[in-house]
Amino acid sequence: MNNFVYYNPTKIIFGKDTQKNVGDEVKKYGKKVLLHYGGGSIKKSGLYDQVIKSLKDNDLEIFELGGVVPNPLLSLINEGIKMCQDNDIDFILAVGGGSVIDSAKAIGGGVKYNGDVWDFYAKGLTCTDSLPVGTILTLPATGTEMNFRSVITKDDTLEKRGASFPNPVFSILNAELCATLPKNQVANGLVDMLAHVFERYFTNTKNVELTDYQMEAVMKSIIELGPYVYDNPADYDKYAQIMWAGTVAHNYSLCVGRETDWATHQIEHELSGMDSSIAHGEGLAVLFPNWMKYVYKHDVDRFVQLAVRVFNVEEDFFDKEKTALKGIDALINFYKRLNMPLTLRDLNINEDKIDELALLATRNNTITQGNFVKLNTDDIKNILLLSR
Ligand code: NZQ
Ligand code: ZN
Repeated sequence: MNNFVYYNPTKIIFGKDTQKNVGDEVKKYGKKVLLHYGGGSIKKSGLYDQVIKSLKDNDLEIFELGGVVPNPLLSLINEGIKMCQDNDIDFILAVGGGSVIDSAKAIGGGVKYNGDVWDFYAKGLTCTDSLPVGTILTLPATGTEMNFRSVITKDDTLEKRGASFPNPVFSILNAELCATLPKNQVANGLVDMLAHVFERYFTNTKNVELTDYQMEAVMKSIIELGPYVYDNPADYDKYAQIMWAGTVAHNYSLCVGRETDWATHQIEHELSGMDSSIAHGEGLAVLFPNWMKYVYKHDVDRFVQLAVRVFNVEEDFFDKEKTALKGIDALINFYKRLNMPLTLRDLNINEDKIDELALLATRNNTITQGNFVKLNTDDIKNILLLSR
């Protein structure tokens, strides 16, 4: 196990009706709040009215910026930065999914930065000074509600990149708000949270049994409860567990003391950057089984462990590879149960894009991706070819 420092300053307020008191939290940080949201789901569900009421009850001055799209764009972020600066706004409340929250983090950082906020993304830098951001999460998926990451797309070049910002100061998690989620977004979220565990589970660090077991519990919960919430998103008691699984999967508590991978995420960001109609979860469902098939021989035992402990595959003691591959098949079946796309063709990405995607992922052969196995441009091309 490696040395580590773990610090997570996000206050989590979890449970039914908790969004109704959001104003009590916001007023601790200021008087003028930017309410940031997406394409209108919060208005349809009634959440918007509840939030406005609580903010008004607490005498907060409200400024609004809606219109965040999935795979959020730098142009709207720049609009938000200007709005905050022009009006001396002192708090940002993000109400929505990962795209809204990531956009809010970028606005918060951009307000305090004397330059183009894209600098942080272009160079993969860490922004340490930001307006405080609070969130009401409506889509369990990304884990952004309790972490320091933000992933956005630059409108003109379609580069999709991540950077680090201060964590949200609080996040309100009420699984009642998931009842209105369309099935495909429930599924995208399940695939994403499971992928966040995979990115940590596949490691070369030894003596990490404790966090292996913790991750296996999270993965089993997603696999067992996931299909149920896909069919019944209004079941609070089940979705509450999935919601917390999504947060834990990416709040960096599960990977303490170990090296992590992230190659599949990096390749996926090129896909949903190139075509913003592709949801992050969809790209991951296409890529993860093929990344696994490409790298499993590097540490067959770890793939056997996943297959047996998480997917309940019966171990073939004479043929480890067979057991490992059965685990990958079980993952594909899980994705099928959620009606996820499984090939690049399903995403309408033609084979002639493969070379370009691979080069984008390695920034024209200047970097490799991943740590479990370091992937160069040819490796990534091979994974994309397996994904056709
Ligand atoms: O925009 P609205 O109208 O709100 O509708 C959204 C959007 O169309 C809808 N939605 C959200 N909650 C809803 C709802 N519809 C009905 N009822 C609700 N309760 O869902 C659609 C998708 O929303 P989005 O925020 O884009 O989805 P998600 O939460 O999956 O976020 C995806 C983004 O996060 C990034 C992804 O790359 C992608 O850009 N990620 C961020 C990470 C992070 N910051 O740590 C890590 C991830 O790996 C990921 O890269
Ligand atoms: Zn993800």
